[in-house]
Amino acid sequence: MEAKSAKVEHVLQPETFEFTKANLTQAKKIIARYPKGRQQSAVMPLLTIAQRQHDNWLPRVAMDVIAGMLGMAPMRVYEVATFYSMYNMRPMGKHHVQLCTTTPCWLRGSDNIVRACEEHLGIRMGDTSNDGLFTLTEVECLGACVNAPMCQITSSEEDHFYEDLTAESIVDILKTLAAGKQPSPGSAAGRKSSEPVTGPTTLEAQQKGWEKMKKGAA
Ligand code: FES
Repeated sequence: MEAKSAKVEHVLQPETFEFTKANLTQAKKIIARYPKGRQQSAVMPLLTIAQRQHDNWLPRVAMDVIAGMLGMAPMRVYEVATFYSMYNMRPMGKHHVQLCTTTPCWLRGSDNIVRACEEHLGIRMGDTSNDGLFTLTEVECLGACVNAPMCQITSSEEDHFYEDLTAESIVDILKTLAAGKQPSPGSAAGRKSSEPVTGPTTLEAQQKGWEKMKKGAA
């Protein structure tokens, strides 16, 4: 599959943006949470709503609409949106695959995960597959190091962590998404939360201690 390089492509900006009725209602509810004069604090949730509505990326006109709603200079909204990696300034694949390569994930094999994704999709990091289904992005620590290596996959509808990945399990996840199905988020190794791979131990030891105490008291 030939890669479409997003780094050099010209981003065609839409001329207008309007929140859907449901999203406008939600946006107004969020703005109303903040004290008078502090409405600008709603900028991040509003950007998130706009991005989800607009196929997982933020056109400039959407940021302008939000600036108008919050009484902010458009530049202030652009500054917020371009600072955080969770906002996308260009069209994305339907599924935005964000691969963590920070030290704990790297030590646990993130290089293999990156290679498996690039080989399976036939694209390089930062690119979007020609079928428009996947964009690959390298990200810094997402706070789930204890279940490294991991990635986050976002789309207009979902936002999930996939953890304890192997080259095989990430490819399975990509195939499931390509088939229009939802893979199981969380640990690919079947761990619950971040318990040890051998299963929970701390509470079991405590339980045994209580049982011993009860026997002694009987
Ligand atoms: S280093 Fe990957 S989640 Fe923290």
